[in-house]
Amino acid sequence: MFESKSHITVNPQGNLALGGVDLVKLVDRHSTPLYVYDEQRIRQRYREFKEAFEKYYGDVEVFYACKANSNLAILHILRQEEAGVDILSEGELYLTLLAGIRPEKIIFTGNNKTDKELEKALKVGVTINLDSLHELDRLIRITEREKLRAKVSFRVNPEVSPETHPYLSTGLKESKFGIHENVILDGYKKAKEAEFLDIVGIHMHIGSQITKTSPYEVATARLFDIIGRIKNNLGIELEFADLGGGVGIEYKEAQEIITPEDLAKAIVPIINEKIKEYSLKKPELIFEPGRFIVGDAGIMLTRVSTVKSTPYKKFIGCDSGFHVLLRPVIYSAYHEVIVANKPDEKPQEIVDIAGNVCESGDILARDRKLPTIEKGDVLAFLDSGAYGFIMASQYNSRPRPAEVLVSQEGAELIRQVEDFSSLIEKQLIPERLMKE
Ligand SMILES: Cc1ncc(COP(=O)(O)O)c(C=O)c1O
Repeated sequence: MFESKSHITVNPQGNLALGGVDLVKLVDRHSTPLYVYDEQRIRQRYREFKEAFEKYYGDVEVFYACKANSNLAILHILRQEEAGVDILSEGELYLTLLAGIRPEKIIFTGNNKTDKELEKALKVGVTINLDSLHELDRLIRITEREKLRAKVSFRVNPEVSPETHPYLSTGLKESKFGIHENVILDGYKKAKEAEFLDIVGIHMHIGSQITKTSPYEVATARLFDIIGRIKNNLGIELEFADLGGGVGIEYKEAQEIITPEDLAKAIVPIINEKIKEYSLKKPELIFEPGRFIVGDAGIMLTRVSTVKSTPYKKFIGCDSGFHVLLRPVIYSAYHEVIVANKPDEKPQEIVDIAGNVCESGDILARDRKLPTIEKGDVLAFLDSGAYGFIMASQYNSRPRPAEVLVSQEGAELIRQVEDFSSLIEKQLIPERLMKE
C-alpha cells in the first residue's frame, strides 16, 4: 500500500495523484518523460520555513535558491509569496528579473564571478555576495570606473562539515567556496575604505541535504563570532546575516531529517546569545532554501519500454535516463519509485530501473522491491522538484522533457517538450562542409 502524503495520494481510480491530479491521465495527455510540480506544496513549504523563523526570531527573509529549479512559473509563485531569491549566474539574474523579483530581494552569490557578471549585478542594484578578496578588488575597480554604489556582503567559509554527501559539502576548510576566517576581516576593512561600497551583510552556506542541526549550530556560532569581531575591530554593524540553505528532505521513508522549526529552535538561542555577547544590533536573518521548497513538490514520470531479465539481474527499462534525472548518477541519490498506475500493488520482485542513456552508469534506481512491472507502466520518481529538470541535458541527442504545474486550476503546461529542432538550435555548419 502506498502511504499517502499530504499532496501525493492514490485516487479512486487507483492511480497516483499529485495535488489531486491523476498522474497516469496526465502522461496520457503529455509525453514521457515529464516533470510535474504541485503549486500548493511549494507555497506551503515556503511558508513553513518563513513562519518557523518568524516565530523564534522575528526578522527573517527567505531567499529561494533558484538553482534548485528556475522555471519561470515557479519563480512567479515565489514572487507572489514575497520571497527573495539567491542567484549565482547572470542567467539566473535574467530569469528572476523577468519573474518580477525586485533587485533589493536578490542576492548574487556564486563563485568565480566574471567582471561582466559583477558589472551587471552592480548596474541592476542587487546585493553582491563576494566569494574571494580577488572578487572584492575587481568589484572596487568596477564601481570606481562606473561611479556606482554596490551593496556587498561576504561569503564566509566556516570550516564545518555538514555531514552530507561530499559533493554537497560547501563549507569545509578545503572547499572552493567562501572566504576563510583568517582574511575575512581584511575584506571588510578594505570594503569599508572603498568609496563606492556599502557593506550590508555576511553569508555562509555549508552544504545541501543536511539532516542534522549540529553542523548549523557550530557554523552559526562561528559566523556570529566573526560578526562580533567585525563590530569590535572595525566598528561595522551588519544589516543581515545570511545562513544559506541546505535543509534536507525525506527522500527515503523514515530517513532522519530536520524541519525548519527544529533548526530555528536549535540556532536562534545561539544567535541571541551572540547578539548579547557582542552587543550587536539584531540583524535580519536570511535563509536560502532551495531543495526544501521545491524538492518534494515535484515528480518525474517515465514510462516503461522494456523489461529485461539477465541471469544476474532484472532490469526495468524506461524512456528516461540521467539526461532527465541526474541525481541518482552523480550523488548516488535515492528517489522513491512508485508505479503510478498501480501504486497499491504488492511489491513482488527486486529490480533495477535502467535509463535509456548509452552509459552503464545510467541506473536510476537499484535493487528496488516493486510490483511486477510491464511495458507501458508509468514510474513516478518522487522528490524530483529540486535539481531535477534544471540538470537535464540533451545527452544522446534526446530533447528535454516538458514541465507541468498542478493546482486548483488543474494541470498547466509550464514548459513545452523540446522537439528535434531544439537539438540543432544555434548550430552552424560551415559552407564548405555542405559541399559534395
Ligand atoms: C549559496 C547557496 N545557497 C543556497 C543553496 C540551496 O541549497 P539547498 O537546495 O540545499 O537548500 C545552494 C545550493 O547548493 C547554494 O549554493
